[in-house]
Amino acid sequence: MRCNRCDPKAGNLTVMRISVIGTGYLGATHAACMADLGHEVIGFDVDPEKVASLAAGTVPFHEPGLDAVLQRALAAGRLRFTTAIADVAAHADVHFLCVGTPQSKDSNAADMSQVNGAIDLLAPHLDRACLVVGKSTVPVGTAQRLAAQLQDTSPAGADVHLAWNPEFLREGHAVADTVAPDRLVIGVTDPADEATLRQVYAPILANDVPLIVADLPTSELVKASANAFLATKISFINAIAELCEATGADITVLADAIGRDERIGRRFLNAGLGFGGGCLPKDIRAFRARATELGVGESLDLLDDVDAINQRCRTRAVAAALSLTSQQLAGKSVTILGAAFKPDSDDVRDSPALAVAAELIEHGAQVTIFDPVANQNASTRVPTATYAHTLEEALAGAELVLLLTEWKQFQDLDPIKTKSQVAMPLMIDARNVLDPQQWAHAGWTIHSLGRGTRHP
Ligand code: UDX
Repeated sequence: MRCNRCDPKAGNLTVMRISVIGTGYLGATHAACMADLGHEVIGFDVDPEKVASLAAGTVPFHEPGLDAVLQRALAAGRLRFTTAIADVAAHADVHFLCVGTPQSKDSNAADMSQVNGAIDLLAPHLDRACLVVGKSTVPVGTAQRLAAQLQDTSPAGADVHLAWNPEFLREGHAVADTVAPDRLVIGVTDPADEATLRQVYAPILANDVPLIVADLPTSELVKASANAFLATKISFINAIAELCEATGADITVLADAIGRDERIGRRFLNAGLGFGGGCLPKDIRAFRARATELGVGESLDLLDDVDAINQRCRTRAVAAALSLTSQQLAGKSVTILGAAFKPDSDDVRDSPALAVAAELIEHGAQVTIFDPVANQNASTRVPTATYAHTLEEALAGAELVLLLTEWKQFQDLDPIKTKSQVAMPLMIDARNVLDPQQWAHAGWTIHSLGRGTRHP
């Protein structure tokens, strides 16, 4: 994705010298896109393999369209990667902090070791005026703490400024979300820092993307609140899905009907197996934990319910599998379609599909998994499953099929052809992408989460 106003030759760009610290989903995308906008970018990571891969033009994860942007930026000579922090400090006037903040091993709080480690590493090298811009999702109050640390421990002292610029990119849409976001949010303490960020994002702002300027804590809270709201929306519809199943109602019709109200909106009302991935689950827990630390834990009590409803989606899928097989899962050949936490991604972090797979294995099922891109990652998380190389191989002889990640090729399955491939026409559609009437008509017993079971 490249807009015609993003060409530095178009003359609306002051080329900035930028660093991107941390080259995971967020950092690799940000680095490639900033260089593609025309800036001079250096990407830093402590992982030499990641750096070598990116420097060779290969994105080390599945993200549609990112390879092309990366290769274009490398070929233009505006992007390079390093494991040497001194190179970063020497090169850049604006440093974007893009490291991960996963869930702590022993609590719900965010593990801040990568953020703290990056600042500890960078600060002693900052010997001239520069702007450090946090993009990682952090507990509110982090930015203020890091600003003080940078000023205290950098040779340039008070000339090192800090801003916060939360990132809202979705995996699978990372490039578009970076170069054409719904909005840019920046938290600043000095108008000069706002001016610097306006220069960095000039080609994006030229396309009428709204810029919201805030203080540091507001900018941190914007990100946490956005993810909490999205998670709440998904869990709300999944809670209603439980009522639909108890009453014979249809959650998809209900979602369409309430979604027509513009105040509600239809997006993020797809009921099914709920949310997973490296962001929403850990972010709502960290948000809740931070509120408790701040003495206002009750304000986010509802996020405990959001989490619990989300976990129940997985339990309900397993219960449906037990029900469809008359509680006889032991020894059954069960095929799982999808392992990634969502389509167009090979990310299996907190994947609902793999949580269900692990539960079915616990019940003694012989589980075969097929995902178009995530088999490799999944096999390290659920090594006791069998992994099929093709959809056909996965379906052959299945006594129960569960569609757990809504890849397009699964949505397009033909019920008649699929019936001829399996041993038993039993389907659980945990993402509500198959037409139950059509599948039942073709001879399947199909259970859709939030729509109940249909028989042939
Ligand atoms: C999310 C936020 O959308 C993004 O703004 C933030 O920067 C990072 O976290 P991402 O984790 O990439 O992005 O995925 P997203 O598309 O938001 O989906 C999250 C999860 O919710 C997926 O598991 C998806 O399957 C699930 N989901 C989404 C639903 O179950 N129903 C829906 O209607 C929408």
